[in-house]
Amino acid sequence: MTAHILDGKAASAQIRETIAAAVQHRQQQGKRAPNLAVILVGNDPASQVYVNAKRKACQEVGIQSLAYDLPINMPQTELLALIKTLGLDDQTDGILVQLPLPEHIDTDLILDQIPVHKDVDGFHPYNLGRLAQRRPGLRCCTPYGVIQLLQYAGMTDLSGMHAVVVGASNHVGRPMGLELLLAKCTVTIAHRFTKNLDQHVKQADLLIAAVGKRDIINSEWIKPGAIVVDIGIHRLPNGQLKGDLDFETASQRAAWITPVPGGIGPMTIAMLLKNTLLAAESGVVNSIG
Ligand code: GUN
Repeated sequence: MTAHILDGKAASAQIRETIAAAVQHRQQQGKRAPNLAVILVGNDPASQVYVNAKRKACQEVGIQSLAYDLPINMPQTELLALIKTLGLDDQTDGILVQLPLPEHIDTDLILDQIPVHKDVDGFHPYNLGRLAQRRPGLRCCTPYGVIQLLQYAGMTDLSGMHAVVVGASNHVGRPMGLELLLAKCTVTIAHRFTKNLDQHVKQADLLIAAVGKRDIINSEWIKPGAIVVDIGIHRLPNGQLKGDLDFETASQRAAWITPVPGGIGPMTIAMLLKNTLLAAESGVVNSIG
């Protein structure tokens, strides 16, 4: 078996086209373009690459991104003050703080200060709580992107599937589990303390690798015909980008699989744009609270 590709590049291009049309429509109605504040603290090379990709994507759909490139020794109090100012600014629709933050900054404290209706990453406990209660507002971009990619490939009904998420991080694995519950899957979330990981993976109709490490999931564990989504991204010493899984061997067992790159990465950015447009539309305040 050679798996079909879950093409995140194509799906995100289609979503971005719809967003660009909606932004244009707003402007034809005399409204301003949506504005997204993108905050980057320090000069981590991977974060710079991600942030540049997000800013470029904004530009392509007509969303205005405001760059806040801050020094690595930025005091926490000043970052909090900036978020407070942006939170009160009615010209700013969305606020994104690129993670990871430098060690002297308390990430939870910062994320908690982003007003919930401007939380375009969907990281705020309020928005995660909404998702847990089946009343999603602004949704975490990567997990939401996974669901949208499956829908794009025609998998509109996931109900009853056994989904196994490997990785339980606050911003990916856990909200992924909530999205899959919302999609009526039976959900297993495996993590570093899980025993017999192979036995769990072998049961997955839908396997989501969100480990952040290579070589944890053996392709031989993949149930033949499974849908496999790889959220991991790793740059090898030779510059090549790889996921958590070994794509070549995994695609011999799966029916569907995401490539890395070109799978979930572009979907995460597309969902950021979608959330920013949603945040700019006045209705979002009512719909999420
Ligand atoms: N760092 C890695 N991925 C992300 C993301 O989706 N959002 C933010 N804010 N930081 C990240």
